Amino acid sequence: MTDLFDITQINSMTLANRFVRSATWEGMASEDGAVTSKLIDTVRDLAAGGVGLIISGHSYVLPEGQAGPLQMGIYKDDLVDGLKSMTDAVHQAGGKMVAQLAHAGTFAAETLTRTPPHVVSLFDGLAKTPRHELTISDIRKLVPAYVRAAERAKAAGFDGVQIHAAHGYLFSQFLSPVYNRRQDAYGGSLENRSRALCETVAAVRQAVGPDFPVLVKINAWDDVEGGLTLEDSVAAAGLLQNAGIDAIEVSGGILTSKTLSPSRLGINKPEKEAYFEQGAAACKQALNIPVILVGGIRSLEKAKELVAGNIADYISMCRPLIREPGLINRWRSGDTNPALCSSDNLCFRPAFKGEGIYCVTEERERSE
Ligand SMILES: Cc1cc2nc3c(=O)[nH]c(=O)nc-3n(C[C@H](O)[C@H](O)[C@H](O)COP(=O)(O)O)c2cc1C
Repeated sequence: MTDLFDITQINSMTLANRFVRSATWEGMASEDGAVTSKLIDTVRDLAAGGVGLIISGHSYVLPEGQAGPLQMGIYKDDLVDGLKSMTDAVHQAGGKMVAQLAHAGTFAAETLTRTPPHVVSLFDGLAKTPRHELTISDIRKLVPAYVRAAERAKAAGFDGVQIHAAHGYLFSQFLSPVYNRRQDAYGGSLENRSRALCETVAAVRQAVGPDFPVLVKINAWDDVEGGLTLEDSVAAAGLLQNAGIDAIEVSGGILTSKTLSPSRLGINKPEKEAYFEQGAAACKQALNIPVILVGGIRSLEKAKELVAGNIADYISMCRPLIREPGLINRWRSGDTNPALCSSDNLCFRPAFKGEGIYCVTEERERSE
């Protein structure tokens, strides 16, 4: 029977268990996106804490794609040495690490990038400040930016790459009928809305070779009116499988989905856990690549049920591992109490203040 502590493979990558640290913007890089010793210590702790695979925080592939302060970048060759120090630290601690490649699209931090955010379609109500609608030639330039970023990730010793196509960032905007109102080959039908992402996946695959793991994180649904539906998401996942990905991580929601955001509040009882379970189940049925599920997984029982029930192959968590980087070793050692994370999202606050993420609630509890 499938076990959470099975040793498994995703393409050439061998994983010690089925637990994944979902991509997490730590807000610990330097101003130009370079790795810092604080960031290295954070990921080393995660690897030492037993999580099988760490997915890096979203790393911008072009300067104009930066989403937030002190975000890690992968947009220039000078960053590779720092990234290598980080993957070395993870490998020495027995872990594996995949680089998440991203572009924030309309959610780019214009105060940092000093340029109007690049968007899939320009329409009334999209934003209060100017935006630049991508031309066909801009879209064609995106592909090499991801390819170069993937090549840098490989050179820096990452065990794979994950292309971020969830949460309303650029490729999620392409997939979403709300954001994508284009009338050319990149808009309209699901096939057209998937085109930029599939072209990027195919080009990245070509560049990194057949053995290097290429993953995608996708929304099961957008949780905004008129957004991506589960049916379209599963169809897009099928196209991505054909384009050459090795695994898919299923998330959902957009930064503007309020209570239905990707990081939902108050996951305090079993019924609230794994809020994108239906999305993973649908992908599992339709695809023959591994499915990674993220979103509100808090207990070992739920994790076991998802894997044993063939809903997901891997269990991905973000906030629980901010509070407890050693959660997986704790569970493995027999202390099977649920994660201590209270899903209050206070961990975002210090990152926006430039202090890097940490569990604010834990700190408060300690000082009481
Ligand atoms: C502080 C913070 C930073 C995040 N950064 C990223 C990111 O860089 N890329 C990404 O795909 N998702 C990011 N997420 C979303 C998580 O990966 C995950 O999808 C979501 O929090 C739900 O999982 P959880 O309930 O285990 O936290 C972030 C979430 C938090 C709380």
